Amino acid sequence: MSKQHSSEWLPETAVVHSGVRYDKATGASSIPIYQTSTFHWEDLDATMIYDYARSGNPTRDALEQLVAELEGGSHGFAFASGMAAITTSLLVLSSGDHLIAGEDIYGGSFRALTQVFSRLGIETSFVDATNVELVAAAIRPNTRAFLLETPSNPTLRVLDLRSLAELAHSRNILTFVDNTFMSPFYQKPLELGIDVVIHSATKFLGGHSDVIGGVAVVKDEQLAAQIKFLQNGFGTILGPQDSWLLIRGIKTLAVRMKSSSETALRLAEWFIEHPKVQKVFYPGLASHPGYDIQMSQASSGGAVLSIDVGSRENVKRLCSALKLPLVAVSLGGVETIVSYPVQMSHAAMPKPERDKRGITEGLLRVSVGLEAFEDLQKDFQAGLDAI
Ligand SMILES: Cc1ncc(COP(=O)(O)O)c(C=O)c1O
Repeated sequence: MSKQHSSEWLPETAVVHSGVRYDKATGASSIPIYQTSTFHWEDLDATMIYDYARSGNPTRDALEQLVAELEGGSHGFAFASGMAAITTSLLVLSSGDHLIAGEDIYGGSFRALTQVFSRLGIETSFVDATNVELVAAAIRPNTRAFLLETPSNPTLRVLDLRSLAELAHSRNILTFVDNTFMSPFYQKPLELGIDVVIHSATKFLGGHSDVIGGVAVVKDEQLAAQIKFLQNGFGTILGPQDSWLLIRGIKTLAVRMKSSSETALRLAEWFIEHPKVQKVFYPGLASHPGYDIQMSQASSGGAVLSIDVGSRENVKRLCSALKLPLVAVSLGGVETIVSYPVQMSHAAMPKPERDKRGITEGLLRVSVGLEAFEDLQKDFQAGLDAI
């Protein structure tokens, strides 16, 4: 059968059939877990595809090819975690370079930039990137990259990726987008002009709260060679078992994203009417300030929303009363997960910085899973009754 490219398929088909579709050696439908560290040289004159598993492993390769195709890139790289993907890819920057980051990027990225990259002479300005003019004003002669996240975490603000990519390219600046919240099923930043797409694959790509991983995807050959060099040089690779789990998880990405996002929208519409909920953040609501941009660059509001219930005390009461969701760090699982950003994802961010970004003591992030809407609604009703 001739191999079609995933761009010819609708996204539901692409997640099932992209990448390496079966094991070439045996025909096995599931790519084997090549649990090996090294590869035998039968002939020292032969060209080896694989020589050492840090540099390349067939299971990891299959995952890398899959995510590259799904994101519309030419090269994918799988890392030990989302943070490994972000930090390793950003090391294409050098001492003396300046970076502009969206002001509400993931707390771990904020920590790495402010506590590690800053030490290496790579300075970051955090800017409200919903306003492209503010980003333009923050550009310096040594600005080398933008690091963006949309919708942002945890206040779900929407950035205009096309305009930001255009601005960057007019100034010879690289663009990195953390696409964790949307997944390639709903948003393909490379097609909007972005240079590097990154994921915490721990989330929707894996989808089952059972693996930590990260990926980066690019379409430029030179950038691909640089990231490959860094991935191998730093050894921040994903192991074969976790690569296999991600390949398996991605096969159901479409059905999971569709079901979770549909329920997220219904919950958001219900929360907005609820007297105990002070604020709802969900880019799939027409009342969201970024709705039009969201719908022009992504095909859904996604499966994550945040609500503000006013205080830490209210958050505690609500969380104690909830029976279905996990109260946990993370998102993107088959089960609904509620997270308390000030104590979890954004604990690394100083309080004044959190306050600036609207990450309040009453804010709760909800990653909607695959449960029935009616059951979740009943559970949240009981939780809100406890406030
Ligand atoms: C948007 C986003 N980016 C990156 C990360 C880091 O990924 P990991 O935990 O896989 O290192 C997270 C983790 O929560 C995240 O939510």
